[in-house]
Amino acid sequence: MSWVAAFRMTGPPARVLVHVPARALEYAQALTSAVLGPAKIAAPCAIEVRVGVTAAEAQSLAPWPDIFFGAGLAPEVLLEMPRLGWIQWAWAGVDRLLDHGPFAEALAQSRFRLSRAVGLFGPPLAEYVLAYCLCLAQGIPQVLEAQRERAWRRFRPDRLAGKRLGVAGLGSTGGEIARQAARLGLEVWGCRRSGASPGPTPEGIARVFGPAELDVFVSGLDFLVLALPLTPATRGLFSAGLLARMKPASVLINVGRGALVDERALVEALRAGRPGWAVLDVFEREPLPPESELWSLPNVIITPHLAGLSRPDDIVDLFLRNLAAYRSGGPLAGEVRADLGY
Ligand SMILES: NC(=O)c1ccc[n+]([C@@H]2O[C@H](COP(=O)([O-])OP(=O)(O)OC[C@H]3O[C@@H](n4cnc5c(N)ncnc54)[C@H](OP(=O)(O)O)[C@@H]3O)[C@@H](O)[C@H]2O)c1
Repeated sequence: MSWVAAFRMTGPPARVLVHVPARALEYAQALTSAVLGPAKIAAPCAIEVRVGVTAAEAQSLAPWPDIFFGAGLAPEVLLEMPRLGWIQWAWAGVDRLLDHGPFAEALAQSRFRLSRAVGLFGPPLAEYVLAYCLCLAQGIPQVLEAQRERAWRRFRPDRLAGKRLGVAGLGSTGGEIARQAARLGLEVWGCRRSGASPGPTPEGIARVFGPAELDVFVSGLDFLVLALPLTPATRGLFSAGLLARMKPASVLINVGRGALVDERALVEALRAGRPGWAVLDVFEREPLPPESELWSLPNVIITPHLAGLSRPDDIVDLFLRNLAAYRSGGPLAGEVRADLGY
């Protein structure tokens, strides 16, 4: 089924193809009601929308769109779209697109522009990270276990205040995690590609490191949070060697991408108790296969990539703001740089 809508049909319309796996109609409806419903966000130009409910249907519309709005479509299919000038990706990570050599090359040659979902995931990711920091400091896993056994087992819960949390990646998500952690009384360190020197230190961060100082950064932390994009420079960055630098009782929390960490090395490191715990929302392969050893480790908490769930209304709002910028040739929020891969 293809679903078509047109808004403000004066002037040549921007032809927008919408596709998000299993949610294409939800996104298209959010776009329609943003422009035509009570909120009436002014569309910057006439827009014609078609929806590819399935990937095959989106592919069959390949000759048509100027703009792709959505996610989950294979880079090969996007490359089949001859008129495409801009892709607004509805997800935060674009690693699956840029892993495809011809797609990365086309972006580098400015065949089209690419922006990703940005500025939406910081607050939910910060809540996720702090929930699990508090959960482990309060010993909630052992409390629940004792309760199941009807055992009155007293112990002294830990405090977060005074502990040190490090965020690897200080962008739109990592920056917010750092701010919220500092408010809870944690000492916060950060690590970013550009290191300490450029620009002001983000609010709440005591010390900023560059990639060359990762081992010093990692070895000083009680909590290590990964909020990095997956790029050629960050793939497998958290290797056996770096994990061995973590403190024995420390906690690794990964909300970035699974392949930032060498998963096999992580299993061994957790068996050795360094780090003491891992809280993982993202994995090298998703869904995490039933045979993965991570499932059976007692010091791992696994969540199925839900830390930063987005709402179509928020992404539509970003899309309409970026559409105005795209039409005027201005900078796009979350625009991806081909040379950096994020
Ligand atoms: N689990 C979820 O549901 C979920 C939700 C949202 C996002 N994510 C993931 O989180 C990632 C980050 O999102 P974001 O919006 O915060 O990205 P962003 O705004 O682009 O920020 C990326 C940060 O990573 C730093 N960085 C990049 N390469 C690095 C390297 N080699 N060494 C050290 N630091 C490096 C950047 O440094 P500079 O500041 O120097 O550029 C920047 O601070 C996304 O790519 C996505 O994979 C996951």
